[in-house]
Amino acid sequence: MVLVMGAGAVGCFLGGLLQASGQSVVFVGRSRVLEPLATHGLTLTDLDGRQNTIAADDLRLFSDLPSEPPVVTLLCVKAGATLAAAQLLESSLPAGSVVVSMQNGVGQAALAQSAAPSLCFLDGMVSFNIANLGDGRYHRGTAGFLAATDHPVLRPVAEAFKLQQLKLRLVADMRPIQWGKLLLNLNNPVNALSGMPLREELMQAGYRRCLAALQEEALNVLRAAAIEPAQLTAVTPQKFLRVLRLPTFLFRLVARKALKIDAKARSSMADDLSARRLTEIAWLCGQVQRLAQSVGLQAPLNARMQALVEAWPQRGVPYSPRQLTQALGI
Ligand SMILES: NC(=O)c1ccc[n+]([C@@H]2O[C@H](COP(=O)([O-])OP(=O)(O)OC[C@H]3O[C@@H](n4cnc5c(N)ncnc54)[C@H](OP(=O)(O)O)[C@@H]3O)[C@@H](O)[C@H]2O)c1
Repeated sequence: MVLVMGAGAVGCFLGGLLQASGQSVVFVGRSRVLEPLATHGLTLTDLDGRQNTIAADDLRLFSDLPSEPPVVTLLCVKAGATLAAAQLLESSLPAGSVVVSMQNGVGQAALAQSAAPSLCFLDGMVSFNIANLGDGRYHRGTAGFLAATDHPVLRPVAEAFKLQQLKLRLVADMRPIQWGKLLLNLNNPVNALSGMPLREELMQAGYRRCLAALQEEALNVLRAAAIEPAQLTAVTPQKFLRVLRLPTFLFRLVARKALKIDAKARSSMADDLSARRLTEIAWLCGQVQRLAQSVGLQAPLNARMQALVEAWPQRGVPYSPRQLTQALGI
């Protein structure tokens, strides 16, 4: 059995795919997520035309951890909930149970491990965007793949995802992939503060300049820390900066070929801001600042961006491209 700890956008999508491949899956989540699933079932769609529906009666939905021990657990909560979720898992799963963090940011598995020392936490990564469309419907709005630290219990899981045309890359060292993903996730605060869907936001040169500046600062820090981020798009992270800085008419041409994003996709940080929930900014821009400090540098743009996101409750109004470049001082 695969346990999804934190059934939300990622958990429902990944768990649903595994169940569609014939795996037994248990979803643990909040009633506001589980109730629509219990009423409508779980429907998965994507930008390639996927349509999987799992009937409500076939879903195993729990608000607390079940007694049956899982073969593997996918940890799918947001960063602010990692410690509490890890403590729950520690109190319930047999020692040595494998838990894969499918969360964004670098260091969530290590954080969880600190709270649940008897379990075996692995790093994972989801490179695509998933939106909760309501009524039990979850939609993958960008292209991408999964990755995790290689472990024997994950091989059948990789096979199950493969049956659903989703690649789970099992690798020895997740750090380059996690930093490569973190660079892309630096668009989350830009997107959230823009108030626009991802595609519309990226068609604005001013927002792309903000993202490029945040990424450039992070790349300088990574270089100083001797970390080579993995390439997760069609071009290297360094070339990606140049693409972001192209005039919009050229960017549009490149994006048409290389960036598959459907019209509705938004970053989940945008949803967090509109729902006035805690964001993961401290695990994105904050992580760049912590790495900078560890090598005797600073990351002032990432610090400013973190401050802007944290000040959102006092502002509540989206930033135009010009307002955001000015607020970042670029
Ligand atoms: N959505 C995406 O497109 C995407 C893509 C790639 C990676 N990610 C990353 O994946 C992680 C999950 O993101 P998400 O968008 O799936 O978040 P999400 O939709 O908020 O789902 C997480 C769910 O877990 C619940 N939860 C938290 N603690 C729990 C507990 N102890 N027991 C049961 N349920 C619990 C949350 O409830 P509460 O809100 O009440 O805490 C929430 O409903 C994040 O790190 C995110 O950055 C997201």
